[in-house]
Amino acid sequence: MEEITALAKRRGFIFPSSEIYGGINGMWDYGPVGTELKRNVREAWWREMVALRDDVVGLETSIIMNPEVWRASGHVENFTDLMVDCKTCKKRFRADHVKGDQCPACGNKTLTEPRAFNLMFKTNVGAMADQSSEAYLRPETAQGMFVDFKLAYQTARKRPPFGIAQIGKAFRNEITPGNLIFRSREFELMEMEFFVPSDDEAEGLRWYRYWVDQRFSWWLNLGVQPERLRKHEYEGADLAHYSSATTDIEYDYPFGWGELEGIAHRGCFDLTQHVNASGKDLSYFDEETKAKYLPAVVEPALGADRALLVFLIDAYEKEEDRTVLRLHPRLAPYKVAVFPLVRNKPDIVELAASIEKDLRPHMRTTFDDSGNVGKRYYRQDEIGTPLCVTVDYESLEKHDVTVRDRDTKQQVRVGLDQLLGYLNERLA
Ligand code: GAP
Repeated sequence: MEEITALAKRRGFIFPSSEIYGGINGMWDYGPVGTELKRNVREAWWREMVALRDDVVGLETSIIMNPEVWRASGHVENFTDLMVDCKTCKKRFRADHVKGDQCPACGNKTLTEPRAFNLMFKTNVGAMADQSSEAYLRPETAQGMFVDFKLAYQTARKRPPFGIAQIGKAFRNEITPGNLIFRSREFELMEMEFFVPSDDEAEGLRWYRYWVDQRFSWWLNLGVQPERLRKHEYEGADLAHYSSATTDIEYDYPFGWGELEGIAHRGCFDLTQHVNASGKDLSYFDEETKAKYLPAVVEPALGADRALLVFLIDAYEKEEDRTVLRLHPRLAPYKVAVFPLVRNKPDIVELAASIEKDLRPHMRTTFDDSGNVGKRYYRQDEIGTPLCVTVDYESLEKHDVTVRDRDTKQQVRVGLDQLLGYLNERLA
């Protein structure tokens, strides 16, 4: 993790938030390269979960919602972690991170009894800072899809089985944020609520298994090493009270196996809660069969930041003479880097610059003319750029360039008239 954290900062993936003031625990910024990677992570999820399907629509709901939402959903009462405080060193820990009765920091046996700590951030809406204006920053995006369920299915003219997806910020006042962006206090969720007819339990379970498999395949298709992934299916008392089935996809992080993504069969719990609390009818009315029902929900939910961390860790490889990020081309921040072999030959620099400019509308590119070519390859390998194009003396006469492959380091010469087609093929 130390190496990944150092690389993330050195190459502009991830910075501590407001670092010049000493940072703030659990908050992170994405640098120029990290921003590209994050956009690609979101896009890879959206493409698979929404764009390539005809049974899922998108939504963007507000971060601050009517606080009644969080009372109905159970978050005000139950979205808590048990914590303990050390009376000697005043540090605070999650109760499940403490072994025995000894403080993990100072070793004294002066821990308080575990107390429930609500993870939602509070704020006030409007000029008055009293209880009537109190609201919460959402700890998940899911509730937006539940409270807008009726508006969404009516306007999109969808009937179950169908899903509503959303990508957006979420906030949790985690007691112990850590491991870079693995657990932070501000992060981004990618969630999809898939609504299925609730009278057919078998169909609900079929969809649940379908989504577990779909989500598992997504990771594999984006190049994550299969031996570092596993499914963990919850049973009995370990299930949340509203869930009849839940599977976590887990990853073998440098600090051990941990949760990456959750797929939960939530039944009719959420819609029922909102119907009861709001007094509004959120049931689905099927015009064809005249059936009216509250659908059940299967939910794949994933943190975009945690996904990004896994792609970084999984792609990271230290070789004898270089560090390389073997990112899937779809995720790579830049697809192609273009270099002039030398900086002091204007014809070469101009040709390289014009090639890069011509490629820009087709793929994310970058131009680099600093240092020598070896150093430039090294830099591009570290940020996972799959292909580097070098313009040299021969290019001026023969109208061709060298294309170098990140993974094999092999180089081939490609004619300028073939270049775009060749790059597209290699990146597909
Ligand atoms: N609506 C369901 C839900 O929010 P969750 O298991 O609490 O489920 C889903 O969160 C996913 O969000 C997790 O699997 C993880 O990828 C990510 N996640 C949760 N808490 C996080 C945190 N503090 N920092 C970064 N990612 C987090």
